[in-house]
Amino acid sequence: MKNVLVIGSTGQIGSELTMKIRRMIPEGNIVAGYIKGAEPKGELLESGPSAEADVCNGSQLLEIVKKYDIDTIYNLAALLSAVAEKKPQLAWHIQIDGLMNILEIARENNCAVFTPSSIGSFGPETPRANTPQDTIQRPRSMYGCTKVATELLSDYYFHKYGVDTRSVRFPGLISNVTLPGGGTTDYAVEIYYAAVRGEEFVCPIAPGTFMDMMYMPDALKAAVDIMNADPSRLVHRNSFNIASMSFDPEILRAKIEEHIPGFKMRYEVDPVRQAIAESWPDKMDDSCAREEWDWKPSYDLEGMTVDMIDALRKKLL
Ligand code: SER
Repeated sequence: MKNVLVIGSTGQIGSELTMKIRRMIPEGNIVAGYIKGAEPKGELLESGPSAEADVCNGSQLLEIVKKYDIDTIYNLAALLSAVAEKKPQLAWHIQIDGLMNILEIARENNCAVFTPSSIGSFGPETPRANTPQDTIQRPRSMYGCTKVATELLSDYYFHKYGVDTRSVRFPGLISNVTLPGGGTTDYAVEIYYAAVRGEEFVCPIAPGTFMDMMYMPDALKAAVDIMNADPSRLVHRNSFNIASMSFDPEILRAKIEEHIPGFKMRYEVDPVRQAIAESWPDKMDDSCAREEWDWKPSYDLEGMTVDMIDALRKKLL
């Protein structure tokens, strides 16, 4: 990995991943790819090259790959689960037609490709506790359909053409730089913003609904480590279960209240998000990632909560 294109560099993951890779490889071209209306600003804009990189525009992507001699593409363009239910055709177009563009360019220009999968690639028939690496994947959401297709297509390009595709199934990601948009797990980010601002939080997910979650620094480490892993050790590729914590809204509320006494939360359950959440695993088994590329998270709920509150106090107050 030397010259890297991050597609979706201004999103929740991209804004932090691009900066991490720029710090890691200061001599490389680390290109912040964006779409119109979501241009990079501030440090992201000033610390390296950026370019309009619409996944649905193959010739635009090819031009960037050639200009910057790109060897690795992080494809982070996606509509999250709740938005994808409102715009299923657009979600398919971005997530699958867009991926096809990228994989073809990767095949012709010898690029490695990371396209994240998700807990959303599982469905109601999947074992919910200790969800195995290789198991039933019959999601009912459009987001999930695109993620299963992403895994299959990425593996297809590896087996058929030798394209170096690798990826992980991200849990819900909790972060304090860029807000997620339209996901089922977003509540676990928004709750911290409300708590730090001293506001009551209205929770769209019902008590007792457990989902896999992860703090962004661990997610970024996974995204980098999987692409740097020794390929001879990889039995799997697309995609690895990775996990660090699992909680329901009540556990999260109680943890935040330990640090912000008096924090209040009430429920107004959103039926679309709730149905999606109930079809996702409670906790994935990530032993294959641990065995094949030494995956190990650093943050638990307490460590994340301390760090989130500290970072958001600096940002918001
Ligand atoms: N965080 C995503 C969502 O909620 C799942 O990968 O849609």
